[in-house]
Amino acid sequence: MKKPKLSDLEKLAKEAGSILRAGYNKTHQVEYKSTIDLVTEVDRQAEEFLLKSILDKFPEHHILAEEKGVVKGNNDHIWYIDPLDGTVNYAHNIPIFCVSIAYAYKRDLRLATVYDPMRDEIFSAERGKGAWLNGVPIRVSQVTTLERSLLVTGFPYDMWNTSNDNLANYGRFAKQTQGVRRLGAAALDLCYVGAGRFEGFWETSLQPWDVAAGGLIAEEAGAKVTDMEGEGDYVSYPVSILAAPSGLHKKMMEVLESKDD
Ligand code: IPD
Ligand code: CA
Ligand code: CA
Repeated sequence: MKKPKLSDLEKLAKEAGSILRAGYNKTHQVEYKSTIDLVTEVDRQAEEFLLKSILDKFPEHHILAEEKGVVKGNNDHIWYIDPLDGTVNYAHNIPIFCVSIAYAYKRDLRLATVYDPMRDEIFSAERGKGAWLNGVPIRVSQVTTLERSLLVTGFPYDMWNTSNDNLANYGRFAKQTQGVRRLGAAALDLCYVGAGRFEGFWETSLQPWDVAAGGLIAEEAGAKVTDMEGEGDYVSYPVSILAAPSGLHKKMMEVLESKDD
């Protein structure tokens, strides 16, 4: 069965990104999936474009897409699609969002692309070959201490109703680092770790399409990427993520494990 090339993912991400760019700063039809989890008509348009384009070329492949759910196919070939990561930002006209596309062969993430249409930044990676930003290789930060680290995290959509709300972790890291940002797009958070803009990223209660592409990009840029328990399979449920250069990954793990509340 035919496999995609990295250039296929990049072309798809750029085209979907132009749909996001065209809809940016306009009035949207917002629907609520839960109290604070929303979706706009642009998420759906970009996803429909991606699904149609992938199935035209790779009709037997299996796809996991945020809005449509599962498109059943041969799961030796799995695509992970987030047509608009950062949708709350998008609905508030905050220009921090992206398209995220990953491809796994026999459960191994092989290709990844994350496209930020507002900055025209395309992050890509191919397993074993490296990670790039606009074609230039990227590398994780060389900082080795938490004190010199700028971290990023996010909070789950069900945080009003769960004690697994990440607030205690946030507090602990905020008091041991240069700061902890909350940008609102997990795929970009991971790419920024790969590019050395942030030293590390952690988040809980995510979905496979939030982390698949950014995870491979961060790994190929030199990060250690695991779930928050330190396990290597970060796309299987329950999805959580911890990405940082390996020395810092260890230090972040220790902070996450030091829960006393
Ligand atoms: C969300 C973003 C956000 C993260 C949420 C995700 P969406 O994805 O990545 O940063 O904190 O957990 O669900 O809904 O914008 O695609
Ligand atoms: Ca997402
Ligand atoms: Ca999304």
